[in-house]
Amino acid sequence: MSVLTDKIKIAVCGSNGKMGQEVIKAVKSAEDMELTAEIDIVNGQYSSIKEAKDAVSIDVLIDFTQPASIYENALFCLNNGINIVIGTTGLKDEQIKELETLSKANNLGCLIAPNFSTGAVLMMMFAKMASKYFKNAEIIELHHNQKKDAPSGTAVKTALMMSEENSDFTFGNCPEKETIDGARGAEAYNNIHIHSVRLPGYIASQEVLFGSSGQILTIRHDSMNRECYMPGVLMAVRHVFGNKDFVYGLEKIMD
Ligand SMILES: NC(=O)c1ccc[n+]([C@@H]2O[C@H](COP(=O)([O-])OP(=O)(O)OC[C@H]3O[C@@H](n4cnc5c(N)ncnc54)[C@H](O)[C@@H]3O)[C@@H](O)[C@H]2O)c1
Repeated sequence: MSVLTDKIKIAVCGSNGKMGQEVIKAVKSAEDMELTAEIDIVNGQYSSIKEAKDAVSIDVLIDFTQPASIYENALFCLNNGINIVIGTTGLKDEQIKELETLSKANNLGCLIAPNFSTGAVLMMMFAKMASKYFKNAEIIELHHNQKKDAPSGTAVKTALMMSEENSDFTFGNCPEKETIDGARGAEAYNNIHIHSVRLPGYIASQEVLFGSSGQILTIRHDSMNRECYMPGVLMAVRHVFGNKDFVYGLEKIMD
């Protein structure tokens, strides 16, 4: 077997996008990977996963497209023998369950991570840890103004992890009335309020604020550029290719 055929064959879906371009650079510089397809509905080498699959061989597809297409893309991969790493956010809980079932039934790897930055994953893990000791917390997430979904997948995942440790994050709050709709943000698991800021200049930042009488704990993470996601993306590719299992959250494979 040649050295080339030993490499993991990668397709990047959303190849023309901001994340897609960064992923292409990372895959090209990974010695154990070979880029076989760049897929994008705008100026892609291939315009659909099917078209790429009919032309080249794909072990793992990395998807950074858009919330409106990710479920269909993932279904196609898991029904057609392709392991998938999903960076695109916006999947609903029931869709994630469906993908888990399909990945297990077809013995294919599927890793979904709302955030591939190792620092951000640590922020989520620390927030989960702090939730044992604070009864009140809120999340503020700050992103560039081209982001199509709100709140961010990272904020939702952080809230989910925090909710495993505490049943109510508005403990002792007085009854309140919003005089302008949305003033208190959105409410996620166990009453965690999430506030989404969209401004040019940000890439992706998040603060988790914990309060109790006489103290505030702030856990903050900032992504300065998109390179910060790449070690996590490559780690995920190697994991799904080697393990063929279903994983939700990069923290599950960080040791
Ligand atoms: N998990 C993470 O760590 C992480 C980090 C950053 C961004 N994201 C998410 O990744 C996604 C992409 O972000 P971006 O900033 O690169 O967006 P972007 O708009 O720059 O790029 C998306 C690309 O996908 C293409 N596309 C859309 N639908 C497609 C389809 N059905 N098939 C093929 N190509 C398609 C678009 O033409 C575009 O080139 C978003 O959902 C974003 O929230 C996740």
